[in-house]
Amino acid sequence: IDLRAYNTLGISVSARHFASANSREDLTALRAWARAEGLPLQILGGGSNIVLKDNLPGLVVHVALRGRRWCEVHEDDAILVLEAGENWHQAVIYAASMGYRGIENLALIPGTVGAAPVQNIGAYGVELADTLVDVEVMELTSGEIRRLDCQACRFAYRDSFFKQNAGRYLITQVRLKLSRNRALELSYQGLADAVGASSAEHLTALDVAQAVMALRRSKLPDPESLPNAGSFFKNPLVSHRQFEELRQQWPGIVAFTDPQGMKLAAAWLIDRCGWKGYHEAHVGVHRHQALVLVNHSRGTGKEILDLAQRIQDDVYNRYGVLLEIEPRILP
Ligand code: EPU
Repeated sequence: IDLRAYNTLGISVSARHFASANSREDLTALRAWARAEGLPLQILGGGSNIVLKDNLPGLVVHVALRGRRWCEVHEDDAILVLEAGENWHQAVIYAASMGYRGIENLALIPGTVGAAPVQNIGAYGVELADTLVDVEVMELTSGEIRRLDCQACRFAYRDSFFKQNAGRYLITQVRLKLSRNRALELSYQGLADAVGASSAEHLTALDVAQAVMALRRSKLPDPESLPNAGSFFKNPLVSHRQFEELRQQWPGIVAFTDPQGMKLAAAWLIDRCGWKGYHEAHVGVHRHQALVLVNHSRGTGKEILDLAQRIQDDVYNRYGVLLEIEPRILP
């Protein structure tokens, strides 16, 4: 089948075999079938963080496990249990509407719950790792189901144990610890301005989620109308020394302090190289956000990756900084 509708970059490649899994039993059966046939197994969630470079030779399993419930509900906090196939943004709105805080800054991030831990989704000062209790996984070689706690997930900026061990685990469920009264995270200036931080004591999680949605809609293209995979590059981490050298030469350079050094705004580097709004036959760079590559019409994964390479070369030649591609490239 054609996977165009299953990836937000809208790339058309075919999967030799395709199945949707609605339960753990489906997953077990599909895994066994792929093994018996000697076929590689590829897991697909919302398809919002992948670049499909070529046809997929094996079995593609679309994870469609649904369900959300609460457990360990105390006066101030509770655990939200989410099955992997749930839509991430809907889960955020569900939790915020019920007055629970912790993930409201992650509103409107495309994709499924099961994909969220892989790249440790993050925005506006919050990462999934901040609230995650544990993750239920199926180990694909053994078929065994087990839980990994937050520490075992080895979360870092847009990185995790699952990203480092791509293809070895399938995430079936995520548990988050949310709270009714923790402080809202408003350290990102654009967000503080949008919600009117002066009235912070009256703000709800839903107010923050709505401000985040408005911010994202103003900068990031909706994959429904302009196919994309969010930020295409990570914001590169450099040492304080390298940052000082860069700042001498490029006084306007934008960066954020990080526990391990300085995180440069990749969007700024790309923008200054003149790529923002660049448009070629099928693919290009978004008009309002230089970090987002877009597929205007029938672009291929190879065209996207070729454009990414030219951007990486330019940024490296000018700033001596290597941009790392953020989405996963398949196969
Ligand atoms: N900038 C430019 N040109 C642009 C866009 C931005 O010069 O075209 C400069 C601006 O000075 C701006 C700075 O770059 O202040 C940073 O831009 P922005 O605040 O939009 O955030 P970002 O670094 O581009 C990161 C995440 C986003 C997340 C936002 C908000 C990464 C790779 N990206 O983007 O995550 O939503 O911060 O927290 O860390 C994603 O991962 O897919 C994603 C969208």
